[in-house]
Amino acid sequence: MSAPVRFTIETLFPELVLPWTREALLGRAAQRGLVDVRVNDLRRFANTPTNRVDDAPYGGGAGMVIRVDVAAAAIDEARATAPPPDEVVLLSPAGEPLTQRLVERFAGYRHIALLCGRYEGFDARTERLVDREVSVGDFVLMGGELPALCLLEATVRLLPGALGAEESHRQDSFTTGVLDYPEYTRPLAFRGDEVPEVLRSGHHARITAWRRAQALARTAARRPDLLANAALSDAERRALLVNEPTVNGNGADREGSAPETGEDG
Ligand SMILES: C[S@@+](CC[C@H](N)C(=O)[O-])C[C@H]1O[C@@H](n2cnc3c(N)ncnc32)[C@H](O)[C@@H]1O
Repeated sequence: MSAPVRFTIETLFPELVLPWTREALLGRAAQRGLVDVRVNDLRRFANTPTNRVDDAPYGGGAGMVIRVDVAAAAIDEARATAPPPDEVVLLSPAGEPLTQRLVERFAGYRHIALLCGRYEGFDARTERLVDREVSVGDFVLMGGELPALCLLEATVRLLPGALGAEESHRQDSFTTGVLDYPEYTRPLAFRGDEVPEVLRSGHHARITAWRRAQALARTAARRPDLLANAALSDAERRALLVNEPTVNGNGADREGSAPETGEDG
């Protein structure tokens, strides 16, 4: 069996992070030896008489800034471990967006170190010490712990053996370049809303074609920006282009009509 993927999380609040790593999917992945999460207290690296990790910003202004020497000591320690991190990632609202493509890259690594900010974030010189800055969205959280956990969980679920059914992430939203198709379970009818007939037909080719058409219709309605880079057949591309003015309009046609691709039965 291959060595577990190592995550080193540097944070001022280990007690916020640790429970998440011990439960459910992450906890099981650790028990099975797929992942090894180490959570470090950044305060260990405070090397001042007052033991402070932060200080007031040069130039004035509200809030405190985490010192670069504290960040550097944490990064140096992480880089000195074996295996060394393939990447040291700083969680930051100014980073590149966390996407499934990026997560797929992380899932191929042996060790990722994650640096979680607090307060007004890290001294800007920290940016030159890391390999990448990653943001989880255009909003500002109080700390990098939740973004780090998002990155961790999204990565771990891609590791072979982490999910119950080996296949279950293959159709996920974004993995295929488009959003996932809608899923249904019992009851058959709920407040007059019935499970689509095709899903009860037992006709696998029809079900596959319907799901693909639904995934494309949802993507066109909700996230048309994804279609430019999605893997589409010529027929799908033509169908979506024909539908584009309606589907991409003001959302009134949301999921109204799935494109007829004429494929897969
Ligand atoms: C209050 S934020 C600092 C915000 C900073 N003053 C700014 O406006 O960019 C404190 C820390 O939370 C984390 N953080 C907040 N929002 C984030 C986001 N959208 N993505 C990734 N990290 C985030 C970062 O680690 C950041 O250093």
